[in-house]
Amino acid sequence: MIETDRDNSFDPKCVQGNILRGYHYARVRHLVLEVVNAALARRWLSQATDGSGAAPAITTEEEWLIKPASCFNLGFTYDGLKALGVPNASLASFAPEFKAGIARRAVKINDVGESAPENWASPFDTPDRVHIIASVYAEELEELDRVERQVADGLGGDGFAILGRHDGWNFDTDHVHFGYRDSMSQPRFVGVHDSDSYPDKQPLVPIGSMLIGYPTEYQNIRYAVPQPDALGRDGAFNAFRILKQDCAAFERYLDMAADSLLDDQLGEELLPVGDEAKFGPDTSRHAALREIIAAKMCGRWRNGVPLELSPDTPCPPEPVSPTDYDYGDDVRCPFGSHMRRCNPRGSTIVQRAARHTRRLVRRGYPYGGRYDPGKPDDEERGLLGNFICASLAGQFEAMMCDWLNLGLQDPRITGSNDPLLGANEAETSWFAIPLKSGRVIKLRGFPRFVTVRGGAYTFLASIPAIRYIANLER
Ligand code: HEM
Repeated sequence: MIETDRDNSFDPKCVQGNILRGYHYARVRHLVLEVVNAALARRWLSQATDGSGAAPAITTEEEWLIKPASCFNLGFTYDGLKALGVPNASLASFAPEFKAGIARRAVKINDVGESAPENWASPFDTPDRVHIIASVYAEELEELDRVERQVADGLGGDGFAILGRHDGWNFDTDHVHFGYRDSMSQPRFVGVHDSDSYPDKQPLVPIGSMLIGYPTEYQNIRYAVPQPDALGRDGAFNAFRILKQDCAAFERYLDMAADSLLDDQLGEELLPVGDEAKFGPDTSRHAALREIIAAKMCGRWRNGVPLELSPDTPCPPEPVSPTDYDYGDDVRCPFGSHMRRCNPRGSTIVQRAARHTRRLVRRGYPYGGRYDPGKPDDEERGLLGNFICASLAGQFEAMMCDWLNLGLQDPRITGSNDPLLGANEAETSWFAIPLKSGRVIKLRGFPRFVTVRGGAYTFLASIPAIRYIANLER
């Protein structure tokens, strides 16, 4: 039992792993399962909860003495719970957005145009058949294959059809496509993380922001527990997203924007002549401008150094913390940058009460081969993202809708979308880079760099909840 105070105590062996703390394996495989025989699928779930029989054992939040060769976790969609025989009264007690499913929430989260569910790849083009996302994490491909066989053989093979398989890999120490370093900003939780080990100006997050049934940042408010308690408590919700990234278009845009700033007064203010030397020996002004634009769009330099702590160079003379900062004005880090939109930290925003309330745990892996700008190709690549929270509407959807796409947090960016992954169109897109003098560079003409290829809202049920489902008789 992890005890912080009475209200925050939870039992790590009841909670699925990878929610409160990440696994950090090199590879992931997400298997998309459809329940074809509920009784056999439930028996398989029973084996998975206690590691008996042939099914892979579900990994919990318990601490490891030795890191296992692989970890295994399950997320259930609303249609999946229904297919497994969860009674109607229980199904009715889940939050409306989870019941609707991600495809029916497309407009709210800006999955429109090319990203609309009708354009999603198989099997996400038949969302009602997507019942479980089974995720395997391991260092080696052979281990992923071994665990997949455990799912496909025996009871699993009779209970489920595998509709799809999505592999991701950490191809370069936490870098993702577009070249940025990722996996640094994560919520750290009361009673789970020691704030001294993760210096961060933000407060530790109450576990009720991720696990259902516990205190949240809102005074006296907990997210409603789906009923019965054994099913709902200690679970979390997840937005699983397959996000295709157009690396060639992104790099082309950086070239174009740098070209336009090269002989421009505003460009000289952004990068005073001679300052390109701060980017490394022999760096051209064009190359330095490209990096500045990429950094302003994200909120970090591509090597991970936060703009707020090092606004002028990705190579500060003294090392800086990746997380121990708060935002000041927008000259260092623009209000419209990806990170500042997703998490304004303690800075002033219009919906002041929403600060710190929309935190998401991100467990993502790139998919597809690494992009080489010297050899552009047509291979599909992107991010397999898990965005985990206690309330999909209050956290994930609110972030996608108000902050990433409408820019409601500050009037100076309202009407613009996130430059990295917003629903942008070249005709209308804009991104503001404020300068020290008070003047503003307005970048325009960038397309949507990220297209949604599929996804599902899943419930990362607790171990007692999976036992509850396994014991249903219908
Ligand atoms: C392909 C799409 C995406 C790319 C390339 C991307 C890239 C990044 C990068 C490079 C960072 C900084 C790394 C870090 O601080 O750990 C970051 C942070 C973050 N991203 Fe994304 N991201 C993507 C999609 C999304 C989506 C869809 C969401 C939300 C629904 C999101 C939410 C966040 C959040 C919450 C942070 C942390 C901000 C903070 O706490 O300061 N990202 N992203």
